[in-house]
Amino acid sequence: MTTKKRQPIVIAIDGPSASGKSTNARMVAKILNYLHVDTGAMYRTLGWYCLKNGIDVNDSLAVTKACRRWKATLQSSEGQVRLVVDGYYPAQEIRTSEVSAAVVHVAAVPKVREWMKRIQRECAQFGDLVMEGRDIGTNIFPESDFKYYLDAKIEERTRRRAAEGVTENLEARDRRDSQRATSPLMIALGARVINNSEMTAEQTSRLIIEDIEARLKLPRS
Ligand code: CDP
Ligand code: CDP
Repeated sequence: MTTKKRQPIVIAIDGPSASGKSTNARMVAKILNYLHVDTGAMYRTLGWYCLKNGIDVNDSLAVTKACRRWKATLQSSEGQVRLVVDGYYPAQEIRTSEVSAAVVHVAAVPKVREWMKRIQRECAQFGDLVMEGRDIGTNIFPESDFKYYLDAKIEERTRRRAAEGVTENLEARDRRDSQRATSPLMIALGARVINNSEMTAEQTSRLIIEDIEARLKLPRS
């Protein structure tokens, strides 16, 4: 007798910059023993690749060509599914202010988003996922039963980044992400909105875990 394999579960976490997506996605993935996927890192990697190869990030056609050509593949290691280029994951390089400034441009290119959607959906081949980004609940896995939209006041988000030593105009990047024509940042239908301005990351993760467990009807962890 053959038993039918169940579909992988995808927990979708979206929200603006410094709303706690990465921190909480990592925590939730660890507790549930799911794989963590940082889709922002994938767009950052393309931004880094363009800068490194002298490709103008404002030239949509050139960025589209680069995205078609680059040797980027998925790799599952250390509890994460990552996009690697020629086998290399540029962990440090994608966090520079130059890449932060470039990434919104490459992320607004429709063909890039098509490519990213395909590769991000392929992540489910590795198992159950906690995937964070801007359009996971709206566009990448709209069929997910587990959608969360994290938010916090702009003053609090700016303070969080400053505490990490990063000074960036978050409002400007958020505005670009929310106003672009293709899959802008927005609250997905059925998403649970968690404003964590007054919460710790542990409290936020606990809220998400409790909600997931209640829906899966599993015993509390
Ligand atoms: O710095 P922060 O953690 O806020 O951003 P990130 O998650 O690393 O994402 C960097 C940029 O990638 C965002 O500002 C978006 O322009 C883009 N992005 C996107 O368009 N869609 C996603 N699913 C994830 C990121
Ligand atoms: O991924 P995203 O840009 O949404 O946020 P992050 O990189 O996880 O950064 C959020 C920062 O706020 C981290 O330094 C967290 O420790 C902190 N934080 C949080 O994630 N959640 C809270 N409820 C409070 C603080």
